[in-house]
Amino acid sequence: MFQADQVEIRLLVDNWVDMLLPDHHAHGHGCEIDVERWGLVEHFDPKLLPPQAENGISLLVRATRGRTTTTILFDAGLTGSVLVHNLAALGEPPSAIDHLVLSHGHPDHYGGIYDLLASVDRPLPVITHEDAFLPRFAMMGSGRASGFYNARLNQGDVEGSGGRLVLTREPLDLGWGVRTSGEIPRSTPYEGTPEPSGPGAPGLYQVQRDGHFVVDQVTDEQALVIDVRDRGLVVLTGCGHAGAVNTATWASSLFDGKRPIACLIGGCHLGFPTTPTENIDTTVAALQELEVGSVIPMHCSGLAAVSAFRVAFGERFVQPSVGSLLRIASDG
Ligand SMILES: [Fe+2]
Repeated sequence: MFQADQVEIRLLVDNWVDMLLPDHHAHGHGCEIDVERWGLVEHFDPKLLPPQAENGISLLVRATRGRTTTTILFDAGLTGSVLVHNLAALGEPPSAIDHLVLSHGHPDHYGGIYDLLASVDRPLPVITHEDAFLPRFAMMGSGRASGFYNARLNQGDVEGSGGRLVLTREPLDLGWGVRTSGEIPRSTPYEGTPEPSGPGAPGLYQVQRDGHFVVDQVTDEQALVIDVRDRGLVVLTGCGHAGAVNTATWASSLFDGKRPIACLIGGCHLGFPTTPTENIDTTVAALQELEVGSVIPMHCSGLAAVSAFRVAFGERFVQPSVGSLLRIASDG
């Protein structure tokens, strides 16, 4: 299998934007990440548009091998307006995107899909798990149920808007050292289990094919993994419903456990109100045990987990902010 010479990851949509962060080189333990910020100068330039934050995630991935590059959009944020705005604000043309990968079928990950498809002037492969389209609703602790909150995501509308669906629960090789994870096995006892319903906390349910409502395990959650020569695996996680440790472990196994994990970037799903606080320490310790070079916790990771990763990874920690460009490159 090929390896990328370099990968660039633009933090296109996230819950946070901070214009005061400086450029940064995260290093140590095999981790080498150059971080270019969309900083104070850009935010205050009257000729530029400032990028916006929202409660969603979208990562623009450019993997280069030799003279060729493939560009993949991993998730599409919560709203099309923010996704399209940020693409324009950050000078990233939608026409350069070769594939859209949806980590799973939650609105904060697919929300911008139709505006994105409208802004790309040709059919675009959309790779996801077939369970992403199962009808979902939330049952609140009070017993009140929502409507089907993922009703906007349906196969007919995606295809009718120019998407070309590739539905698979298996890993998919996209070339340039990039693979989707396929379904992620739930092997740790503390991750990937549904949160209990309590006051103010939703328990999520989904319809299975036989029409029965069952607890939503978010079986559709997939990661994106890029193998960078001399560096190791760059693991992108959308919301981390499968668990950050399960995701890192599975990503490693896709490469026969022979490649180090350079970094894990994305949602770690430790910010949910009913997630036990001890899960944060357990997760941090397990990722250190796996010798993950750096963790860049975004979106649903939660402030307590972000703080714990900051302490545990020190100089190797990178604070996420919309607009930042991360570059992981081989020795050349
Ligand atoms: Fe999410």
